[in-house]
Amino acid sequence: MVDRILKLKETRNAIILSHNYQLGEVQDIADFVGDSLELSQKAAKIDADVIVFCGVNFMAETASILCPDKVVLLPDAQARCPMADMITAEALRHKKQELPGATVVCYINSTAEVKAESDFCCTSSNAVKLIESLNHANEVLFVPDQYLGYYIETKTGKKMTLWPGYCPTHGRIQPQHVIRLKQEYPQAEVIVHPECHPEVISLADVVLSTGGMCRYVKETTAEDIIVGTEIGIIHRLRKESPGKRFIPVSEQAICPRMKLISLEKILWSLEDMTPVVKVHEETRLKAKKAVDRMLEISKS
Ligand code: 13P
Ligand code: SF4
Repeated sequence: MVDRILKLKETRNAIILSHNYQLGEVQDIADFVGDSLELSQKAAKIDADVIVFCGVNFMAETASILCPDKVVLLPDAQARCPMADMITAEALRHKKQELPGATVVCYINSTAEVKAESDFCCTSSNAVKLIESLNHANEVLFVPDQYLGYYIETKTGKKMTLWPGYCPTHGRIQPQHVIRLKQEYPQAEVIVHPECHPEVISLADVVLSTGGMCRYVKETTAEDIIVGTEIGIIHRLRKESPGKRFIPVSEQAICPRMKLISLEKILWSLEDMTPVVKVHEETRLKAKKAVDRMLEISKS
């Protein structure tokens, strides 16, 4: 299977991008594995005809926004982020009418249509920096992740209007799980993702994007690390830091949509050149403004 994928990848002049939450075998055949920001940055610079995106729909859409002349494949069309689907462009337009003049910041976990209605886009790794740069804005509407929004508020002191969306997978990570593991491994460091509930975040030593976690664990002197995010990342952490022990806060923190992508589906996708993710040109141009602003702020 892997051989067939690799051969077909060459024939198609394709590149395989994988998010850190993908199945281990998917991460292992990818050309690049990363977090949402790293994957967008990679997509923006890619020199290939085809991008096979092993992640969820909004990530493939972001690649299509940045590379309109490339074919973007999402090996399972059902791989959609439920949090991104907790807001529609229509609902956002409605909210904007209630808050005229508000600056709209959307988390990258949003549809292209929602990005098109937003002023700025951000990921978990640049959200705090982006909101800090908006000190001139009187009112900020942050969509759709209320917990990431709340975390940014605590870090920046900037009050925002928060859309009540959330990640159901990170919602499975409960404070009592962290408390129990801290008792069991008192020497361990706790790292969590900002999509976690505020009570979980308050128990953590460090709050990071998935890419930030991969970098952090290599630098810290801690040998035992309690990890509060989707468990797919454990594969990469163990592979890159084999001498350390990684303890997932919850074995239940599995994103079923991320796990829809498999080696078989990657192969079928490259064989049939489907399902293609293509953002409508009018939407793309509007959404690109918000995404470009995010990429610009991440350069410095
Ligand atoms: P990052 O990998 O950007 O931290 O995002 C996590 C996530 O939930 C992606 O769906
Ligand atoms: Fe969406 Fe959460 Fe899955 Fe990420 S882990 S894709 S935020 S449901």
